[in-house]
Order: sequence, then structure tokens, then C-alpha cells
Amino acid sequence: MKNGLSEEIVLACLLHDAGQYLCRADHDYWGAQIVEPYVPERVTFAIKYHQALRFYPDPSVNYEYPEGYYVTFGEDYVPLPHVRAAYDYARNHKWYMDASLVATNDLYSFDPNVQVDIEEFTDIIGRDFKQPKEGLGNDNTPVTHMWRTMAIPDAPL
Ligand SMILES: [Fe+2]
Repeated sequence: MKNGLSEEIVLACLLHDAGQYLCRADHDYWGAQIVEPYVPERVTFAIKYHQALRFYPDPSVNYEYPEGYYVTFGEDYVPLPHVRAAYDYARNHKWYMDASLVATNDLYSFDPNVQVDIEEFTDIIGRDFKQPKEGLGNDNTPVTHMWRTMAIPDAPL
């Protein structure tokens, strides 16, 4: 928001790692899936490809390979083929910059000095995240069962 990004990119930044609560691997894909019915298509795209873009420097936006990735993945790490394929697809897509903005602004996620108050974002969420009238988990979308499981993980069968 401080960088003057569009509401859609701010929303994508807010939601981009929601998939990490499900799983770490491919959290971009799963995170995009769980919000797809409720957010603009560009938000879904940005979330879906942010993880792959994190592995590939882009000097045009001053994005460098994260130092922490050398520790996490090793000095000679080569992303898996499906990650490379996702990057190649996104890099040539008309919405590449949307995903790139999420990847570059993701650096704030790792800054312990950043203070975020969700109240600053409630207007954007209210405008751009369309909750179904039935409630998440009850609207019969493909992700219905995932939302219901997240809300009530130990529900009886
Ligand atoms: Fe992520």
C-alpha cells in the first residue's frame, strides 16, 4: 500500500501466502485455488505465480535472488521443473508484473520491524473479496470443502 500499488495487488499481497496454512510446497497454487471464486482473476494469477517468481531475479524491478534461499535451499539449488514451467508461463504472461509485484513486495513479510494492522485493509478486503452469501464453505464452489475443513478441521463426518 505504501508503494502505491493497486487495490488488486494489495489484496494479492495480503492473501498470497494463505496457502502456507495448508502446505508449504506449492502453496502458491493452493493459495490461489482457495480464493479463486472470490477475488478478481488478476489477484488469483498474482498469488498463483508469486512463489515461482521468487526463484528468478528480475533486474528490471530490482528483484534479486533472496539471500535466505541459499540457506533454505542450498547454494546450488535448481527449482523443480514444474516451478520453472510456472515461471516461464508467468514471465510471458500479460499479467507478469502483477505476480512480480507480489514477489518483490513479499520481502516485507520477512522484516520483523514492519507493523501491519489489518484495519488498514478492511476496505480493500470488503470491496475486492466477495464472500458468498451462504458463507465460505457453503457455496458449492470447488473449494467449498477446503474452506469448511479449514473452519472446522475436526468436524464429525
Ligand atoms: Fe509465498
